[in-house]
Parts: sequence; C-alpha cells; structure tokens
Amino acid sequence: MKTSSFLYTNSGKILNSGKVSWKSPSNIALVKYWGKMDLQIPKNPSLSFTLGASYTQTALLYKPVGNTDLEKTFEIYLDEVEKEDFKPKITSFFKRIEKYVPFINDYSFVINTHNSFPHSSGIASSASSMSALALCVMSMERMLNNEMSDDYFYQKASFLARLGSGSAARSVKGAIVVWGEHDTIPDSSDTYGVVFPYKVHSIFKNYQDTILLVDKGQKQVSSTVGHGLMKNHPFAEQRFLQANTNLTKLIEILQNGDIKSFIEIVESEALTLHAMMLTSNPYFILMHPNTLTIINKIWKYREETGSHICFTLDAGANVHVLYPVREKNKIKSFIDNELASYCQDNQYINDEVGLGAIKLS
Ligand code: DP6
Repeated sequence: MKTSSFLYTNSGKILNSGKVSWKSPSNIALVKYWGKMDLQIPKNPSLSFTLGASYTQTALLYKPVGNTDLEKTFEIYLDEVEKEDFKPKITSFFKRIEKYVPFINDYSFVINTHNSFPHSSGIASSASSMSALALCVMSMERMLNNEMSDDYFYQKASFLARLGSGSAARSVKGAIVVWGEHDTIPDSSDTYGVVFPYKVHSIFKNYQDTILLVDKGQKQVSSTVGHGLMKNHPFAEQRFLQANTNLTKLIEILQNGDIKSFIEIVESEALTLHAMMLTSNPYFILMHPNTLTIINKIWKYREETGSHICFTLDAGANVHVLYPVREKNKIKSFIDNELASYCQDNQYINDEVGLGAIKLS
C-alpha cells in the first residue's frame, strides 16, 4: 500500500470527550533492524516474535478544543506520575503523524500509560508504548470514519507506530511480524509491518523468551543514535545484505522447523548487531561482562545437554533466552541455578510469543 493511501479523509465529524485504551506488546527481533533513512525507513527488513507478558497499556483521553498547538495540549502520565521528560518524544511523534491524522489537532489529550515490566528494567518500552498510542489514535479515526476495514486499521496503526519508533511497527500484531520490503514476503513494506504469511512449524509455536535483566539502568547510547552511526559505517552495506540473506533463510526455517539453523541465525544476528556497535565511529559497547558470561553458559549447557536453548540481544546488556516450550521445565531450572545470579537483583521476566495488541473496553 502506498503512503498516500494513509492520508485522512475528513468526515467533518467531531467527537465528544471520551477515552480509548489499548494494551500493546513489546517484541524481540530475530533479524535486527539497525540502520535507517529518514523518516523511519529501515535499511533492511527485520522479523520479530511479538511478546505476550511485556506490554504497555495506554488510555488516551480526548477532549475537543479546536485547532491548537499540540505541544501545549497534552499531558502524559506513567503510573499516575506526570512525565514531562516523555513529552519531546511524544510531541515529535504527533508532529510526524499529523499529516495522516490531522484530526488530532482538534483535541487536547491526557495520556495514561502503564508498563507491565518495571520502567527501569533496561527493556525498551518504545515499541509497546508507541504502538499502543498509535492504536489509540486509530481508534479515534475509526470513530470518525467507521467505514474502515480491519486490515486498513491495523496497517495504518503499524504505519503510525513506525513513525514513533521503528520497531513499534512490529508490535501491533502477532505472533511473527516482518517489517521492511523483502522478495519472499508478499505485500511486505518499509512503512508498516505484516504478519508472517506462511504456516509456522509447531516447534516455534508458544516459543519461550526469558529476559535476563543484566542491567536495569538507562542505556548509554540510545537506539536512535546507534541507527545514526550506521550511516558512515564501514561494514554497513555488507550488514544490510546479510540481514536480507538471513531473513530469506529464516523464512524457510520457521516453516520447516530446522531449529539448529534457527539458533545459528538468531545468535549470529544478535552478535552482528553488537559487532556493528563495536565498529562504529564513535564505537561503543552495550554488553556487560555478565552478558558474556551468560552467553558462554548457554553455549556450554547446550553442548552438554543437547538442549535447543539460544539467546538474542537487543540494544542493551540484557539477554533474551529463547527456547521451545517443550524444554521449559529443564531450562527454567538451568536459568534459576546458573544464570539468575548474573542478573541485577537476580531478576528476570518470563515471557513467550504473543498474539499482538488488544483493545480494552
Ligand atoms: C536493536 O525501534 O528502538 O531493538 O526507530 O530509532 O525508535 P527507533 O529505534 P528502535 O530500534 C530497535 C533496534 C533493535 C533491533 C530491532 O528491534 O529490530
């Protein structure tokens, strides 16, 4: 679908004051998005598992006010505490989307959000929070124009979410989402995510993701800055090609259940992401010593037991431990006995593949 098809057709309607709420999940990329062009166009396609337990719940309260300055017309709260520091990101989000949803200028907003995971857990909340907010805005559009199909609703929600944070484009739907054009995914797009269109092998159903909280602090280098450093990166072109090839392979693997190849690609993607950070200018390291200890312990355990455990990383020190549901009990004990002590305050989050965002009444 073309970008222009997401432009808004004015129905002339104005809504009375009201509220819309969505619960939208986080996601974990298996093929990573790292490098983009303006505005939020990825340099390579990415694929993720949508998560279930890690989500943001957002209520958008709207009140008609006539045409006003967006910056002055919203308040944002996290767990009932006003968050002035969230405002610049939300303001820039509203500015980016107003072309597609101009009606937002007719309302003042109060945004109430809550994350299922602790705010200071090192888990990026931008995917879940931006997708939840985008879905709330789309619910308003649907009330203004109730002709809209479900497909259009979710596609445009993903399109808007992407303008808030790239990875948020993959959080609207589940269980596996591809964002970015790729030859073997029909209708894939650089401007919104699409649900993985093929039958997924049973081994990848209910896949488990235990998130080991190695460092719960604020990241030293934000994803947005990291993406920017791919611009003059000496290995960038090679990396973008590799991501495409890895995605081609993963698309096959998700269908045929070749879990050994799955592990190879997923771990290589995680380490390549961090290799890009190590080799950018300026260079930086987001992994911690405990990240590496955990990785080595996972490899040792896999070799000794024949388990199908593997890991991936996002742009931080935390480790996502991925495994098939049938190995859950054994791997849980392994995590408790051998990995939890490398987490800050022994903390980890048990998550699994989920089905996408839910509208709350
Ligand atoms: C390493 O989506 O957080 O998690 O578009 O600048 O908001 P912005 O970046 P963001 O980048 C995510 C990077 C990643 C990989 C991924 O999720 O694909």
